Amino acid sequence: MFGRRPGAEHVAVTLSLTPISRCPSHLAVSAVPLARPSRQTTVPAEDMCALRVQRVAADDAKAHEAVAEVMRRGFLPHESACHASRVSQDPDAERELLDLVRAALADGVSVAVYIGDDMVGAAVNKIQVRPPPGGKSFFERFYEERASRPATRFVLDFMAKIDAQADLFAEAGGDPILELMFLGVVPEAGRRGVGQRLTEETVQLARSVRVKAVSAIWTSDYSRAIGARLGFKELTVADHSTFSFEGTTIAQAAAPHQQRSVLALFKLPAESRNL
Ligand SMILES: CC(C)(COP(=O)(O)OP(=O)(O)OC[C@H]1O[C@@H](n2cnc3c(N)ncnc32)[C@H](O)[C@@H]1OP(=O)(O)O)[C@@H](O)C(=O)NCCC(=O)NCCS
Repeated sequence: MFGRRPGAEHVAVTLSLTPISRCPSHLAVSAVPLARPSRQTTVPAEDMCALRVQRVAADDAKAHEAVAEVMRRGFLPHESACHASRVSQDPDAERELLDLVRAALADGVSVAVYIGDDMVGAAVNKIQVRPPPGGKSFFERFYEERASRPATRFVLDFMAKIDAQADLFAEAGGDPILELMFLGVVPEAGRRGVGQRLTEETVQLARSVRVKAVSAIWTSDYSRAIGARLGFKELTVADHSTFSFEGTTIAQAAAPHQQRSVLALFKLPAESRNL
C-alpha cells in the first residue's frame, strides 16, 4: 500500500519543512492542510513514510468511514480487552463498538494520520463532562442503550472499571476532559511513530478546545511508552489478570506487552485552556 516498492516511481507531494520523529531522513507532509503549498518537490514513493495529520471533522462522513475501517483492522483485533473478548469474531459486537467510535467522532475532536492517501491510524477522542448528580455518563448511556453483545459489554465495563479507579475530573481540576478513547494504527504502519504522533496531536487539539486535561487508558505497554514520553501522569495501574471474559483473563489472552492498563492524565496548564 505505502511500503517500500522496488523500482518505485517518483511522485509529487507538497512538503512542509518540519522533520518528523521516527523518520529522520524524511520530510513531513504538512500536518495541517496548507492554504498555499510551501513548495513542490518530488520524493521517491519508497520514502513515503511522511505522515500527514488531519483533524476528523464532526460531519466528514468519508473520514468517519475511514476511521471505522482503521479501528476494525488496527484496534479491535489487537487491543487487549477487545482481543480477549474476541470482538472481531462477533460481527454484532464489532458493529456496536464501531457505533461507539462513530458517536465519539461526532464530537469533532478526533485525529487521523495518513501516509500518502491512506489513513493508517486514528485517535478517536471524546469530550467528557462530569454527569450531574444522579445522571449518567456518556459510557453508561451507551452501555444501557446500544451495547447488547457480551463482548461489547465486557469492553465497556472494563473501561468503566479502569476509569473508576480515580476521580479524573478532580485530578483535572474540573471538566470537560478530552478522552483519548481508542488509539489504533493499522498493523502494516506500526512502529513508525504514528501512534505517538496521534497522541501528540490529540494533546495539541485539546489545548485549542478549552478542556482541562486529556485522559487515556493505556492498555498496552506500547501506548504507555508513548504517554510516558509525552508527559502523561500515571494515576493507576490495573493488572489484566483481574479481568475475565468467559473464563479467560485478558492477561492470559493477551501478549506480554498487554498485561496491564494504566489510567493516565495530561493536565493542561491553565493558560492554554483559554485559547
Ligand atoms: C499501540 C499502538 C497504537 C502503537 O502505535 P505505533 O504507531 O506502532 O507506535 P509508535 O510507532 O508511535 O511507537 C511508540 C512506542 O511504542 C513502543 N512500541 C510500539 N510498537 C512496538 C513494537 N512492535 N515493539 C516494541 N515496542 C513498540 C515503543 O516504545 C515505541 O517507541 P520507539 O519506537 O521509539 O521505541 C499500536 O501498536 C496499535 O494500534 N495497537 C493495537 C491497538 C492498541 O492496543 N491500542 C492501544 C490502546 S491504548
